[in-house]
Amino acid sequence: MEDKLYIFDTTLRDGEQVPGCQLNTIEKIQVAKALEELGVDIIEAGFPISSPGDFNSVREISKAVTWPTICALTRAVEKDIDVAADALMYAKRKRIHTGIGTSYYHVHYKLNSTPDEILQRAVAAVKYAKKYVEDVEFYAEDAGRSDNEYLARVVEAVIKAGATVINIPDTTGYCLPHEFGEKIKYLFEHVNGIHNAIISTHCHNDLGMATANTISGVLNGARQVEVTINGIGERAGNTALEEVVMAFKSHKELNIVTNINTKKIYKTSRLVSNLMNMPVQPNKAIVGRNAFAHSSGIHQDGVLKNRENYEIIDPKDVGINESSIVLTARSGRAALKHRLEILGFKIEKEKLDQVYQEFLKLADRKKDIKDDDIAMLVGDIRKEDRRIKLDYLQVVTGKNLVPMATVRLNIAGEKFTATESGNGPVDAAIKAVKQIIRRKVILEEFLIQAITRGSDDVGKVHMQVEYGGQIFHGFAANTDIIMASTEAFLDALNKMSPQDTPEDEE
Ligand code: KIV
Ligand code: ZN
Repeated sequence: MEDKLYIFDTTLRDGEQVPGCQLNTIEKIQVAKALEELGVDIIEAGFPISSPGDFNSVREISKAVTWPTICALTRAVEKDIDVAADALMYAKRKRIHTGIGTSYYHVHYKLNSTPDEILQRAVAAVKYAKKYVEDVEFYAEDAGRSDNEYLARVVEAVIKAGATVINIPDTTGYCLPHEFGEKIKYLFEHVNGIHNAIISTHCHNDLGMATANTISGVLNGARQVEVTINGIGERAGNTALEEVVMAFKSHKELNIVTNINTKKIYKTSRLVSNLMNMPVQPNKAIVGRNAFAHSSGIHQDGVLKNRENYEIIDPKDVGINESSIVLTARSGRAALKHRLEILGFKIEKEKLDQVYQEFLKLADRKKDIKDDDIAMLVGDIRKEDRRIKLDYLQVVTGKNLVPMATVRLNIAGEKFTATESGNGPVDAAIKAVKQIIRRKVILEEFLIQAITRGSDDVGKVHMQVEYGGQIFHGFAANTDIIMASTEAFLDALNKMSPQDTPEDEE
């Protein structure tokens, strides 16, 4: 029998507490709608008493969203609960999430109180919230470090007072997975009436254990998990929604199902990351740039033979089109051939060997080889068949130096060399080429473009030249832009008919 696990998303409350990640109401509605599409059961939309902006967002999200329950956070304070109830006025399904600290630290140092007084305040808050809504969730803040016996007393009392969901937060991310699981188990074994409420986990990631603790909580009976997209949240963050959902989807033997449409995970992750200006670390499980990228030759070969050799999740299941075979200096011929085929280049084995050698040289200079680079490499190999080839290029340039270039061209098997100065290294190289070909070729347009970003990038050059009233275009790309410019110029020259070059006029 399958058991439903409720997904409570707190991206817009705990996630939004991250400095610099604040969203305006319109952006929050956008995220809330995306969470609804994703299939989350409960959206914690904010902490209405904390600011008029938060109040307004909870109210507008309540209007905009149809299916998920909208939840508003409060302290165990009547005024907070009044404001939360007001903010939830338009929600079709509503929940008030109230609570108080139960650890020794919170009871004594934060709240300057006693365990009995805290228990009374907890019960009073739940009863007060029940006047407004049926669905009341109670959180025992810092439950992770709370004494289990006392925690059980509080939980029993608030369930009796009408709490429908009990949140056991590991507020400081202190627990180890077995410890957190045992805490949930302890509550199931020692709280009368525990089956009248849903037990929820809310784990922080200070020791990198949020997902493990959450899973351990579920394996011990919790049926709601409080999570955020990309695991964002206070300090080291909260449990990542995508990790928990995919863990249960991957481990079918656990019989835990969620309502999440996993194919929307990646899209939602990108939306949250972009709106919150919060980049996702490349190696982040499920949604990181490298989560389905294979770069070593052995892994690439394995994945190309059968994806499951090195992947436990089909990238399509989380909304990523396909695994990426990242071409690096460690890639093999199989990976290069695969990419060439995707790009529409069908080349025979010998040519492939040749392209592969060029590819390795480029990969040593450039960390990550893109499709443009590959196209350029194939183009370069085709250059072998050209009439005018660049055989040698040397440039001297620098501060207080006159840029000089020496070029040697191979024209139909014959070698010609020239040296020229110019107002820059590219100008010097082009002048040297012109000196060899002795043509009145006019450079009309010259465009250099970085293909991606970064100083290791390939520069793409487009040149438009005029000769004898005709226009010729030349293209080339190289990590060295002087090389790329010279090659682009030669590309244009090669498009002129052979009898036009080299030796007619001065
Ligand atoms: O981490 C925590 O304890 C919380 C509560 C307010 C639920 O975020
Ligand atoms: Zn929290």
